[in-house]
Amino acid sequence: MPEHRVCPWWLGYFLASPLRRLVHNPSGILSSYVREGMKVLEPGPGMGFFTLELARLVGVPGRIIAVEIQPKMLAALKRRVAKAGFSGRVDARLGAPHTMGLADVAGSVDFALAFAIVHELPAAGPFFQEVAQALKPGGSVLLAEPSGHVTGQEFAAELEAAAAAGLHRVENPRVPRSRAALLRKAA
Ligand SMILES: C[S@@+](CC[C@H](N)C(=O)[O-])C[C@H]1O[C@@H](n2cnc3c(N)ncnc32)[C@H](O)[C@@H]1O
Repeated sequence: MPEHRVCPWWLGYFLASPLRRLVHNPSGILSSYVREGMKVLEPGPGMGFFTLELARLVGVPGRIIAVEIQPKMLAALKRRVAKAGFSGRVDARLGAPHTMGLADVAGSVDFALAFAIVHELPAAGPFFQEVAQALKPGGSVLLAEPSGHVTGQEFAAELEAAAAAGLHRVENPRVPRSRAALLRKAA
């Protein structure tokens, strides 16, 4: 795996910009996987480009656990979530580089979104282990990595780390400018 290289917090404003919808349509990317009432894990939400759509899709009975490592990203995420009226369904947490601290949600998550985060981690293996432990049996993960930063070989290594954690590729979704896979934990 590459060195730990977290994207600068100020880039969060660009990543959360409405203009990004011209490339990444959050509803188009997420709506096949997320239903009302689901519990969703979002590691590395940045300032919440996808978080707001996740919160809309899970509705009042659902819950989003968004774990961000940069306090400035997290503060902006919380502001945006509050402005959208979704604070009651988004649990925005500060994580540490080597753990997201998910013991309280073990075995209860329906779906996880790992969008443009895995290449920033010190190691993919422990990350996928944590995600797998948080998921319910049969739960799934949408993994998407920027094709400009992550080579086919690096993505294959991420998929191997996921498989070693019990998360196996079941679909090849098309996500613009990304290498993507839908992973599933055995039921
Ligand atoms: C390239 S940004 C992508 C943000 C968002 N997923 C999106 O697509 O708009 C990657 C995010 O992952 C966060 N991150 C990096 N390492 C992390 C870790 N170990 N735990 C939680 N978040 C992390 C970064 O701070 C950053 O906000």
